[in-house]
Amino acid sequence: MDLGSPRRRDIVPPMSYSGPERRRDDRRRAPNITVRPTYAHIDSQALIHNLEVVRRRVGARTRVLAVVKADGYGHGAIDAARAFVDAGAWGLAVSLVEEGVALRQGGITAPVLVLGGAHPGSEDVIVHRGLTPVVWAREHLQRLAAAVRRSGAHPVAVHLKVDTGMSRLGLLADELPDLMDWLEGEDGALLRLEGVMTHLACADEPDDPVSPVQLEIFREALGTLAARGLHPQMRHVCNSAGIVRLPQAHFDMVRPGIALYGAASSRAVEIEELRMAMSVHSRILGIRELPAGTRVSYGHREELRRRSRLGIVPCGYADGYPRRMSGQAEVLVRGHRCRVVGNITMDVSMIDVTDLPDVREGERVTLMGAQGRDQISVYELAEWALEIPYEVMCGISKRVPRR
Ligand SMILES: Cc1ncc(COP(=O)(O)O)c(C=O)c1O
Repeated sequence: MDLGSPRRRDIVPPMSYSGPERRRDDRRRAPNITVRPTYAHIDSQALIHNLEVVRRRVGARTRVLAVVKADGYGHGAIDAARAFVDAGAWGLAVSLVEEGVALRQGGITAPVLVLGGAHPGSEDVIVHRGLTPVVWAREHLQRLAAAVRRSGAHPVAVHLKVDTGMSRLGLLADELPDLMDWLEGEDGALLRLEGVMTHLACADEPDDPVSPVQLEIFREALGTLAARGLHPQMRHVCNSAGIVRLPQAHFDMVRPGIALYGAASSRAVEIEELRMAMSVHSRILGIRELPAGTRVSYGHREELRRRSRLGIVPCGYADGYPRRMSGQAEVLVRGHRCRVVGNITMDVSMIDVTDLPDVREGERVTLMGAQGRDQISVYELAEWALEIPYEVMCGISKRVPRR
């Protein structure tokens, strides 16, 4: 079995053997070692391809704001952001100021929209790092303006979020006049209303009666702004499902997330040409030959019906391989589906390789993605885990190295 033997410099002596100088050094180097053969493969060409597919679909006049929150839906935000910007994304969207700062620290200079808003105390960082906050309350504007004044910097761009039916973030359309009054005041000049947006609640529902209503409210809100002479340059509404279902709502910019990673919230709103960017693989750590009647794993929930060969796979729920899939999930070995047997444990899962008698320790196992002619799709994993594809992707834990 080739685990890639650790290079000599990666082997860190135990802390107690070293003096204080050495200890500091060891702490810096310790995490570099990777021995366990479980990893997530990220295909950056697929990320680029998916961005191009979305760009073609929305046309040259509509910008793409690539959503890379939650560490790029688990793909690694900085690498994903680089791929998307190189492939023509106008900017990036994150949820948290912290995520925006991480992109800046990673050398990303493209516009970064902070969808989750400006939490109190984050305004100076927003101004300093050149992030673009989404705002929806007078207090947001006041605190940001104060930070701009403190910094002596240029006006900060903001995007105003109108709640047209999601009932999450945003202000109601009839609260707009109050905000516009403030923007017309002296401090309003410290901010630049670059964009206005809303978020769709039901774009991926089978018969979606809600999006047309939301669009109507959004158009009215645009009219209210226009009547006061405000014409934000970027009007944006659509997530991935909206891009597919509502071409009339692409406006000046779209905000795809899951589509860029190659999936959709459900197969009904899938864009066919997309390629899945993440796959998860491991190797069999050992084979157990066990007689019929043996009960397997915690809780003894499953009894072997025949003499079986079980492959031990070093991947469990602490890696984001949900325990709820126990007894249902399948993996690929030599291109064949093998069932996960008994309860998935924190670090290890058992798979049935009885029908593949030549399989040995070290054999490659694909837990998500393609192997041979078959593939374990993110939709299957979501179904087994009673989750949505977003949760599967974001759930692959930090313990699993991304390659
Ligand atoms: C405001 C906003 N826009 C766009 C997106 C991207 O959505 P999706 O991944 O469905 O394309 C999200 C994600 O939740 C979001 O919160």
